[in-house]
Amino acid sequence: MKFADILKDVASEGKEKHVPSIDTFPAHGSEKADLVRVIVGKETPHPNTVEHHIAWVELFGVKTDGVVINLGRAGFAPSFTEPTVSFHTSLDQFKAFCALSYCNIHGVWESCLEV
Ligand SMILES: [Fe+2]
Repeated sequence: MKFADILKDVASEGKEKHVPSIDTFPAHGSEKADLVRVIVGKETPHPNTVEHHIAWVELFGVKTDGVVINLGRAGFAPSFTEPTVSFHTSLDQFKAFCALSYCNIHGVWESCLEV
């Protein structure tokens, strides 16, 4: 078995949504840093209870030379925090961003965004 064998993507989605959605926001106005935002359940909220929740999200950046950087990880408190997180970084260093999310019932989910 390879690690990739346990990753699920949009092809595995049912009525509950687990695939992390990645959006980028260039710095503007008084903002000094670009943002990469990761949301799970952007259009259809995922359950957020102790019994069934998104426990964490992790973001990776793929640099223009192909090197992969782990940009960070956010853990969530079920019923208290929504599975949404923003990372401050410089968009021009990267050619893609990839995110993982973990549901305590349905496993590890992936998505990537080329920029
Ligand atoms: Fe789930």
